Amino acid sequence: MVQTINAITPLAEARVILADHFDLKYSKAVERATAKVFERVREKIPEIEWAFYAPLIFQINRLKAEKDAIILAHNYQTPQIYHGVADIVGDSLQLAIEATKVRQQVIVQCGVHFMAETSKLLNPDKTVLIPDSRAGCSLADSITVDDVLAMREMYPGVPVVTYVNTSAAVKAVTDVCCTSSNALDIVNRVDGDTVIMIPDQYLAKNTAKKTSKKIITWAGACEVHETFTAEDISELRHAYPTAKIIAHPECPPEVIDAVDFAGSTAAMIDWVKTTRPARVVMVTECSMSDNVASETTGVDFLRGCNICPHMKRINLENVLWSLHTMTEEVTVPEEIIPAARQAVERMIEMSRKGD
Ligand code: 13P
Ligand code: SF4
Repeated sequence: MVQTINAITPLAEARVILADHFDLKYSKAVERATAKVFERVREKIPEIEWAFYAPLIFQINRLKAEKDAIILAHNYQTPQIYHGVADIVGDSLQLAIEATKVRQQVIVQCGVHFMAETSKLLNPDKTVLIPDSRAGCSLADSITVDDVLAMREMYPGVPVVTYVNTSAAVKAVTDVCCTSSNALDIVNRVDGDTVIMIPDQYLAKNTAKKTSKKIITWAGACEVHETFTAEDISELRHAYPTAKIIAHPECPPEVIDAVDFAGSTAAMIDWVKTTRPARVVMVTECSMSDNVASETTGVDFLRGCNICPHMKRINLENVLWSLHTMTEEVTVPEEIIPAARQAVERMIEMSRKGD
């Protein structure tokens, strides 16, 4: 029987299959090679668990060099991926910018599918892998090409600014992309006093509050951030009166109005690193505070987060399998690439002008 690891293989079974191909013992050599990583994650990962992660980290890092691969990981990835195997970490904009500079032949995207597609758009001749292609996004699933074309017909001539959390096909029928870190800049820079901003209604509403332009939006939402409420924030304030509360702009406007700071995942990390509050709640995906905790001593991170089930589909086991078998490869139809790539490149260009 051909052994394979796929989306439905239980983790324990995946380990057994991997052990047929790799030495997964927690040897002294592995312990030494991963000691620095363990120092960064020891607050979050107990030593007993580390014995399981370290051999996978060791083999992934070895295989990366052998396969001429680089790992781009989003800030929502687990600490063992973020600190253990990622070459580049960041928010969506940073990952897209870094993808334009990759010299390796293979990119392994530890994030969700639209992020891997963006890497492929910017590197059509390279191999882009995603360890689990089911790692989707409720925002990307909320809108189709036909939806965008119908909006264009309804509002002729109005520029379409599309959140990067969309498929390559949707990007291809829009004028320019944006991320949570440059949304306001991009909206202000496109022509005209009305802008179609899709598909995240909350990012659009939060941006609308800061611009004089009229924003037409779509009914999409992030399943992780839309569930936070203003009541959650007042409960957090009540429970932790001295804590600062910060949130991602995919949260509803009443949440954003109630917090101390809102920004992209990278902006939130920067805010914590520069402001260094004694106590902070990051109202976003749970791995964020786990990842940043080791880089910010003296800050107490309190829980007030949700888990993104899509981001959590990526694990060390499927990253190693992905590199070993060079699957699952992300492809974008040839005819879509030029227009979708242009929308992403325009965004990167416009963000540079904003520096
Ligand atoms: P950032 O671009 O802020 O990293 O956001 C990506 C995302 O998916 C947040 O849910
Ligand atoms: Fe998509 Fe929300 Fe997950 Fe980000 S957190 S990838 S927007 S579902």
